[in-house]
Amino acid sequence: MSQTAVVIGSQWGDEGKGKITNYLSEKADVVVRYQGGDNAGHTICFNNTTYKLHLIPSGIFYPKTMNILGNGMVINPLNLVNEINELKALGFKCDNLYISDRAHVIFEYHLILDELNENKLGNNKIGTTKKGIGPAYTDKVARIGLRMADFVADDFPKVFTEKLKQKNDDIINLGGKALEIEKTVLKYQEVALILKPYVTDTILLLNEAHANGKKILFEGAQGALLDIDFGTYPYVTSSNPSSGGVAIGSGLGLTKIDEVLGIVKAYTTRVGEGPFPTELNNELGNTIREIAHEYGTTTKRPRRIGWFDGVVVRYSAMINGLTGISLMLLDVLTGFDELKICVNYTLDGKVVKTIPARLSDYSRCIPNYITLPGWKESIKDVKTFTELPLNARKYIETIEEVVGVPVVMFSVGPDKLQTIIRKEIF
Ligand code: GDP
Ligand code: IMO
Ligand code: MG
Repeated sequence: MSQTAVVIGSQWGDEGKGKITNYLSEKADVVVRYQGGDNAGHTICFNNTTYKLHLIPSGIFYPKTMNILGNGMVINPLNLVNEINELKALGFKCDNLYISDRAHVIFEYHLILDELNENKLGNNKIGTTKKGIGPAYTDKVARIGLRMADFVADDFPKVFTEKLKQKNDDIINLGGKALEIEKTVLKYQEVALILKPYVTDTILLLNEAHANGKKILFEGAQGALLDIDFGTYPYVTSSNPSSGGVAIGSGLGLTKIDEVLGIVKAYTTRVGEGPFPTELNNELGNTIREIAHEYGTTTKRPRRIGWFDGVVVRYSAMINGLTGISLMLLDVLTGFDELKICVNYTLDGKVVKTIPARLSDYSRCIPNYITLPGWKESIKDVKTFTELPLNARKYIETIEEVVGVPVVMFSVGPDKLQTIIRKEIF
């Protein structure tokens, strides 16, 4: 049993991180988001209800669990207040929510700049969620961002007025419409008052919780292949979703991380632009999309669909140091005659076992597959590994072999109850 565990998206996002975080949260004392913002869309289903969270950690439904928005996040305060209000209306009080005073704030100008930057890129656009993520992290690194501590401070109106003037210049330079300064300042002042009670030194809080033996769960957003350092650059997000981002984005030191659980879809999806070697740009891809309702939680865009890519997940296992895999959406693969798993690529006649750095190389990689027989029986009500049809067990075992990491959990439906544990995390 471990004291701390990280839930990591191990492909291109939307692997089912929300579902597993929520499942594990029941036993966790603290749940922490450590990067990203409301570009994330995490779906949680229990008691016949579906919840969609973008900023708030998936442990919010348990009143005794502390839910932290870590310093590595970029937070849109208007959307955070909306998310809090929606949860309150459903009976979840949110007084177990804590916001890092060091997290950066996403303002309206970041969203405008995200849109203008994308327009400028034309055919080379990233396909961002247009939530202002890139521009907010750009400001952070350029050392001109505003943090939560600044946002709730008394001199915020003065500081923000100056910032707005500079940002309006940037917007006008890119052909956009300037924001009305007074109106914008007033709007954010109101929201700052609402959020102030939640803002605190979460680094201290988290380290004290750890010292007191509390169980801590980190909820990654996005996925390893969208990581700014390890992903398919430039078709990535602007943060570090991979496990290395945990210490940076939360303030809990590296030596305190016990388990790194890779959340892995039984096939592959991707939203937005960028290379995707195993993509099924055909009827089969469309069929899987409809069976699994593969449409973005945040942007509603249809997700691109492909076969399981063993190179992607092996790479992910390596950069994240995965200790186990939670294999998701296995039920979606029921009913197919054959299933394919990509084991390596061929690039210019040579076998490639990992992801090449250059996009032009990666785009030319041709996947090499092994073909496995499918299964026809419904697996939605399965409660143990041995109850699975033989071919479903073989599919899981093949993934374990190709990736080199044990499948410690798997999921056969969106509901919390449709989760099968092979090795306990907490
Ligand atoms: P996240 O961003 O990683 O939290 O994933 P999303 O919530 O964006 O997308 C995952 C989708 O798959 C959601 O609609 C979930 O309800 C759904 N889901 C999760 N696990 C399973 C599963 O095992 N089977 C099926 N059919 N759906 C699942
Ligand atoms: P969750 O946490 C899937 C993708 C966008 C785009 C790229 C950059 O739900 O798995 P950004 O707005 O971050 O600058 O967009 O990253 N992207 C996601 N794709 N799931 C997500 O989050 C994503 N968050 C960002 O589609 O390709
Ligand atoms: Mg999602």
